[in-house]
Amino acid sequence: MHAMNSERDNRIKEFLSLSLERCLKEVGAQTGSIFLLENSKKELILEVAHHISDIPLESVRKRMGEDIVGLVALQRKPLLVRDIGKEGNLKRMNSNRRYCSSSFISVPMQVRGELVGVINITDKFDGAPFDNNDLNTVEKIANYLGIAIHSLNNYLKEQHRINEQFKKEIEELRASLTQLEKFASIGKMIGGFVHEVNNPLDGIIRYVNLALDCLDEDSLVKSYLTEAKKGLNRLVRFVKALLDFFWGLSLKDKEINILEAIEEAFLMRCNCFSLHNIKVEKFFPSSLPHISDFGIKVVFDNIIKNACEAMKEGGVLKVTVLLENGGIKISFKDNGVGIPKDIQEKIFEPFFTTKSMGEGAGLGLAISREIINRYRGKIYVESEVGKGSEFTVYIPLIKN
Ligand SMILES: Nc1ncnc2c1ncn2[C@@H]1O[C@H](COP(=O)(O)OP(=O)(O)OP(=O)(O)O)[C@@H](O)[C@H]1O
Ligand SMILES: [Mg+2]
Repeated sequence: MHAMNSERDNRIKEFLSLSLERCLKEVGAQTGSIFLLENSKKELILEVAHHISDIPLESVRKRMGEDIVGLVALQRKPLLVRDIGKEGNLKRMNSNRRYCSSSFISVPMQVRGELVGVINITDKFDGAPFDNNDLNTVEKIANYLGIAIHSLNNYLKEQHRINEQFKKEIEELRASLTQLEKFASIGKMIGGFVHEVNNPLDGIIRYVNLALDCLDEDSLVKSYLTEAKKGLNRLVRFVKALLDFFWGLSLKDKEINILEAIEEAFLMRCNCFSLHNIKVEKFFPSSLPHISDFGIKVVFDNIIKNACEAMKEGGVLKVTVLLENGGIKISFKDNGVGIPKDIQEKIFEPFFTTKSMGEGAGLGLAISREIINRYRGKIYVESEVGKGSEFTVYIPLIKN
């Protein structure tokens, strides 16, 4: 119960002091004290005392069973002493007595059988001994006090915990904000760089193609240029993927219909579907709520492109859109080559690819995952080699 921080300590002390004053007034007494059981439950600590001037409060501690306070705490029974002079045992216990009067009341404060502390009252104004009426009054007050202290302490503890938690969260937020600021400036830099690279790239490829057209089939220069073109194609894919990603970042305020976004992504890949004889089956709901456009179309495009590349011998791509658990679930199930278990987590890492040079930059899924993170959503895969893969995207329907 003790060992609190000073703010809590002060508030409890203030409350105890007022309560003790009230109790003294009710029974017409002038001296009293309240002890609280400390955390370890082994000792009682003097928290407030009225009109006992010469004691430094902090120093008064009683073990359970020690002195009259300790005895009352141990036995959990209220004690009314009319004249201590006539009570041999108690008189001995009260050897270092602090009270002037020979009559006193000492009552344990409890909550649901658990000891909270002890309240002591002595020195009636009229000098008379205490009686059963006084005891009843103090007992009633002790009951309320027990509950109040228990609740107040819990409340203050909870408040302290919430404050600490709040401080911790603010710290974490501040840290992630600094991190975000860093990323944002790196992002801007990369974005600028990608645009700069993209502009001359078109021209370079065009001139390489023109040069290739002018060269004989068996010329050595032609074979060098063909190799160079493979590298350039890889660069184009890489730049395109990054451009898609940065483009998505600038769309914050727009809203988008998921079904339309999927249709548009299919439209972009229709050549691939007819080329490889791939059938598409769609299971769409009749309507869906709109979502913010953080570049979700890029995600669909990447998944559809991968499915195409995994079904070069033909197959079926099944797309299902559902409203589920307060969000939208979109799954793309192909019956292509499948993904070995040991690389299923790696495929979301940047630059991880199993495709040949010039065919894959290994960025499609990494970028898709980043975009899905903007929605606080999820993207995951279930796959079996030789049977196919199912990519699922889940977008929660919260206002972003
Ligand atoms: N539907 C799929 N079926 C089989 N393997 C897949 C499928 N989708 C992704 N993969 C595997 O995951 C890897 C990573 O995919 P990701 O889209 O990130 O990069 P990529 O397709 O290799 O290159 P990029 O998309 O940048 O052109 C792929 O190389 C492939 O091995
Ligand atoms: Mg890909």
